Amino acid sequence: MCGAKTAMFDFDTPTHREESDAEKYAKRQKLFGTDEVYPMWVADMEFRTAPAIIEALQARVAHGVFGYSESDEELAHIAHSWCQKRYDIDIPASHFRSSPSIMTSMSAAIEALSVKGEGVTTMVPVYAPFMESVTSQHRTLYTVELSLIDGAYHIDWEALERALAQSKLFLLCNPHNPVGRVWRIEELARMAQLCETHEVTIISDDAHADIVRSSHRYLSMATVAPLRTVTLWGVGKGFNLSGLGATLYASHNSALVEAIDEVFHARHVVRGTMMGFLALKTAYTEGLAWLEAANSYIDTNIAYACHTIDTQCAPLKAIAPEGTYLVWIDCRGLGLSDAALKDFFVHDVGIGLSQGRFFGAGGRGFMRMNVAVPRAQLREVLTQLSNALKKN
Ligand SMILES: Cc1ncc(COP(=O)(O)O)c(C=O)c1O
Repeated sequence: MCGAKTAMFDFDTPTHREESDAEKYAKRQKLFGTDEVYPMWVADMEFRTAPAIIEALQARVAHGVFGYSESDEELAHIAHSWCQKRYDIDIPASHFRSSPSIMTSMSAAIEALSVKGEGVTTMVPVYAPFMESVTSQHRTLYTVELSLIDGAYHIDWEALERALAQSKLFLLCNPHNPVGRVWRIEELARMAQLCETHEVTIISDDAHADIVRSSHRYLSMATVAPLRTVTLWGVGKGFNLSGLGATLYASHNSALVEAIDEVFHARHVVRGTMMGFLALKTAYTEGLAWLEAANSYIDTNIAYACHTIDTQCAPLKAIAPEGTYLVWIDCRGLGLSDAALKDFFVHDVGIGLSQGRFFGAGGRGFMRMNVAVPRAQLREVLTQLSNALKKN
């Protein structure tokens, strides 16, 4: 099912990242107690990025001078144009800023837009650094547990309202890591309405915006609550460029952007590197065909993984993600403790996954599997999983 779209690019050849300082591989011993494990935890892909980006970086390396660099106006215009054409978001180019990482922007936004002790709400299970960036800055964290009903995640609106009523900020994840939801317009509108009522500012982490199933459409909170929202994007997830630290923050509301700018300024945060800026510009101007091909390949991997888990890996159940390349697997049917569950995947199956418990309430008994890997590898891993379950 790897259609014409993917045929132009190679997602099948293993990329052998062991010797490339890849975190996913380097931390295997520390996290899993062995290097003999196929790592499917960190959210980056096992694919080479778009050829156009590799060529642009190679040409820049050949120049050989790597002095101080500047994120220029051209970058903001390119980012503006990408968001406008691809997502219908019309934030003025002058309101875009570059940042070395999404979490740097989020932490700076929390610092800029709230004070110690104030409430910050987020919906869990969620990417763990959301919670750390709140508690490490001595804000009060309110978590609202998403409800899993018939295999799909829903918002508990009453709980969300209770939390927002005590909060200054709402940290939204869209598409949501780890449960894979791409929030619908009605959901975004209802969240926005609650934030309006309780005068809450929204920090929307849209890191995974570029990886969405062909059956779904990413809609940004920036278009629903334009003056209340700061949005964080990047080319890390979509183009597999996280090691280059190329991300953005932007808002229709210039006061929000400027408040975050002040924190960046006060902390002397370097806005990124010349390689990151170049990669981002090239991704947004020449990378679309590759991104579409990557999405198409990932769509097939997701469908294959979910089907295999649901039909051959009982009692595990896959939560089919609408966005991201992360499959959230309900392993509660195994009845294992956290430690035993981890051991099962590491020693019986031979893969290193992210444990659900690290994503906050509602994560216990779940595992997150990154399926942005060559299909042959995915097949092998799922066969190992199915065989290990049969033996148990
Ligand atoms: C939702 C989300 N936000 C942020 C990040 C981290 O992005 P960065 O490395 O740019 O801080 C991740 C990485 O997995 C993520 O899933």
